[in-house]
Amino acid sequence: MRQARRLTVLTGAGVSAESGVPTFREARTGLWAKYRPEDLATPEAFQRNPKLVWEWYALRRQRVSVVAPNAGHRALVEFEGRVAVFTLITQNVDGLHQRAGSRRVLELHGNLTRTKCSREDRLVESWPETAEIPPRCPRCGGWLRPDVVWFGEALPGVTLAAATQASRACDLFISVGTSTVVQPAASLPYEALRHGAMVVEVNPNGTPLSGEANYRLPGLSGEVLPALLGAAFGPSAGP
Ligand code: OAD
Repeated sequence: MRQARRLTVLTGAGVSAESGVPTFREARTGLWAKYRPEDLATPEAFQRNPKLVWEWYALRRQRVSVVAPNAGHRALVEFEGRVAVFTLITQNVDGLHQRAGSRRVLELHGNLTRTKCSREDRLVESWPETAEIPPRCPRCGGWLRPDVVWFGEALPGVTLAAATQASRACDLFISVGTSTVVQPAASLPYEALRHGAMVVEVNPNGTPLSGEANYRLPGLSGEVLPALLGAAFGPSAGP
């Protein structure tokens, strides 16, 4: 950590778990244990039942608005100030990294708190409140939808290119709180390995990456990341 000039961190739902945001794939508590992604997180699901999809995301947005970033998010803010070149890549759509104070976040899967027009693919800041769900785009009348990436949709190209570049160019890559199974995000630690970086995984459970990573720190991100920060930069480095 102390020697790293370029640090890239990839986060997943596990980083927000200690804030009370459910993950996706954990057996009892994960969202995909309770709901079917094909009913809620695909363009086809939205075409079939836009009201259901809008309301599910509205509920998640409301839940995220009442939770707070945790010590793991805060430790990542500190890393940003202490490493020469730091890149934070997230698969999370909850905006908690930004709320903790991270300035530059590469959001691979979008952000729940933003809304876009499903027809024009443009961000929409405000719209007239009517009884209709989902609301309509004030410009073209198309349905509004959350600005998140659904299964079967392409990731934002510029963001993915920047994430890939930062994974190839770093000397230390930390993968935190992700099951490392959803592509293309899951390939980023392997890009780092292939280009000679040291790869560290922070996760209480094993993942497909566990056997490949140089180090595995089995624990909660809200405990391991502050400990890593303190070990690298001294006990006063706490968030
Ligand atoms: P998953 O739910 O697949 O994985 C969460 C990971 O976090 C698991 O490996 C857990 O072991 C780990 N975990 C749980 N609590 C943790 C903690 N306190 N500290 C550290 N790790 C912890 O979530 P993602 O990998 O983020 O995509 O899922 C990737 C994508 O799949 C999501 O972005 C979402 C989902 O479908 C879209 O919606 C497009």
